[in-house]
Amino acid sequence: MSDIVIVFHSGYGHTRKIAEAIAATSGAQLLPIDADGDLPAGGWEALAAAKAIVFGTPTYMGGPSWQFKKFADASSKPWYTQAWRNKLAAGFTNSASMNGDKLSTLHYLFTLSQQHSMLWAGTGLMPSNAKSSTRDDINYVASSSGLMTTTPSDASPDEMVAGDLATAARFGERVREALALLKG
Ligand SMILES: Cc1cc2nc3c(=O)[nH]c(=O)nc-3n(C[C@H](O)[C@H](O)[C@H](O)COP(=O)(O)O)c2cc1C
Repeated sequence: MSDIVIVFHSGYGHTRKIAEAIAATSGAQLLPIDADGDLPAGGWEALAAAKAIVFGTPTYMGGPSWQFKKFADASSKPWYTQAWRNKLAAGFTNSASMNGDKLSTLHYLFTLSQQHSMLWAGTGLMPSNAKSSTRDDINYVASSSGLMTTTPSDASPDEMVAGDLATAARFGERVREALALLKG
């Protein structure tokens, strides 16, 4: 049982790989939202006990998947009592296009966290945007508000971009660092 929980949906396994890379460095518990938009048994209890919740979803049609949105709507129950108030929050999204409207998805995750009165942490990562930068550099997709990764549309989950997985690992370290600061 970890005090960091990654609650995420992944339709085809790509976003799951990112979630696993974040978990590897943050020590987070993975909480996958299933194809029907439901959590596994004990999922809501794990979220209630967590000190940090990391939200993850692929970007579908410029926003979160409907399964993630079903989870978000169901979180109106803890919202009523502000049960997640002052927990750390962070978010990530994976999509096929370099831009792909991923920022809309991250904005949605941020708004969800603020409805719950959570404390949002970004990536804390500088962009890799020099002439010499490559896809395998840290934060080549260059997102500060949350983790963005870009999986080519014809790539399998086993062909994730190495730089994205490395960036996800750094994001996991950032979440762990932010939680340590919050705990004081
Ligand atoms: C219904 C649907 C809508 C999509 N919309 C977008 C989009 O708006 N932008 C984008 O860059 N990729 C889009 N994609 C591509 C996915 O984001 C991409 O394949 C991602 O890796 C899927 O992650 P998953 O395997 O975790 O479901 C879409 C894919 C699907 C199936």
